[in-house]
Amino acid sequence: MGKYTLLKKEGSARRGRFETVHGTIETPVFMNVGTLAAIKGAVSSMDLKEIRCQVELSNTYHLHLRPGDDVVKELGGLHKFMNWDRPILTDSGGFQVFSLAGMRKIKEEGVYFSSHIDGRKIFMGPEESMQIQSNLASTIAMAFDECIPNPSTREYVIGSVARTTRWLERCKTEVDRLNSLETTINRNQMLFGINQGGVYNDIRIEHAKRIVDMDLDGYAIGGLAVGETHEEMYDVIENVTPHLPHDKPIYLMGVGLPSNILEAVDRGVDFFDCVLPARNGRHGHVFTKNGKINLFNKKFELDGAPIDEGCDCPACRNYSRAYIRHLFKAKEMLAMRLCVLHNLYFYNKLMEEIRAALDGGYFKQYKKQKLEEWNGRA
Ligand code: GUN
Ligand code: ZN
Repeated sequence: MGKYTLLKKEGSARRGRFETVHGTIETPVFMNVGTLAAIKGAVSSMDLKEIRCQVELSNTYHLHLRPGDDVVKELGGLHKFMNWDRPILTDSGGFQVFSLAGMRKIKEEGVYFSSHIDGRKIFMGPEESMQIQSNLASTIAMAFDECIPNPSTREYVIGSVARTTRWLERCKTEVDRLNSLETTINRNQMLFGINQGGVYNDIRIEHAKRIVDMDLDGYAIGGLAVGETHEEMYDVIENVTPHLPHDKPIYLMGVGLPSNILEAVDRGVDFFDCVLPARNGRHGHVFTKNGKINLFNKKFELDGAPIDEGCDCPACRNYSRAYIRHLFKAKEMLAMRLCVLHNLYFYNKLMEEIRAALDGGYFKQYKKQKLEEWNGRA
């Protein structure tokens, strides 16, 4: 279903290639987040190709509520629905249910919660999440897990991780069943497991061993960037990645800043996703080679330069900082769109540079230089 090839290694950093039924993914890769089958900020699937996106990420929870995964299935699946023919990863709802939904109750069978749209009572467990992701027909489905906030007590984390492991067994059984049905759109759908364990390395490692035994298509590290420090996050990644398979992709969920990505690549991570570049862009915060700047700042009023000198994105090729600042002030939607395009291009291009550095054997030097240039502002 998915074949990961390790092309090159520098320390723990990995340059790889992941082949899927929807095409090849060159890794390390940043997945561009389109929660509701659209990137927030009026960015289309046509734009995604222009800004060099390899993989799009959508959300089970959101698409289940609206327009409904049954609707998406009826229309031929997510690829056809949003007109995107490259790989799509769907997150399971395991994070969104915990961060967005109101009034939730976690039970062995799954989670009871109320919709953040209309308050309607909903139940989602491992089987439901897999059924929804199968209807969406994504390339990669994520396991239904509990994303535990940091800090949490050791006692709570132990119980939660044990339940997440039991849920993963049910996810695997259900994905296998769904993939065997003739009515399933993508019968080669892959399943990635998710490592949890808070900031407790021993629990993380024990859990990693358990889920590796289940021989899944890839492994994610979840429950990070949820309250712990960057140093604690790096420490967990460093401790967990040695226990994950060398011949499967490793995905760090919901991370992060460009500097976090460099540090995680250095510790063996292959896949990333984060709402940060799109969210920042919508607020006029844009990434440049000298770190992040805020286009609302008065000092850009007469600045005729592009957002980032030398950037080849659609915004920088055509418009000035002064013009985009004016658009923000005038509340024109184009302002957000241009900044989101620029930021996503910045991330996708960063990953291209990381891959080139790994190919050329100069990743360590590249990382050091970038961190110096950004100077704590990215
Ligand atoms: N996105 C960010 N963190 C997580 C996590 O721990 N689990 C899931 N399912 N999604 C995430
Ligand atoms: Zn640009």
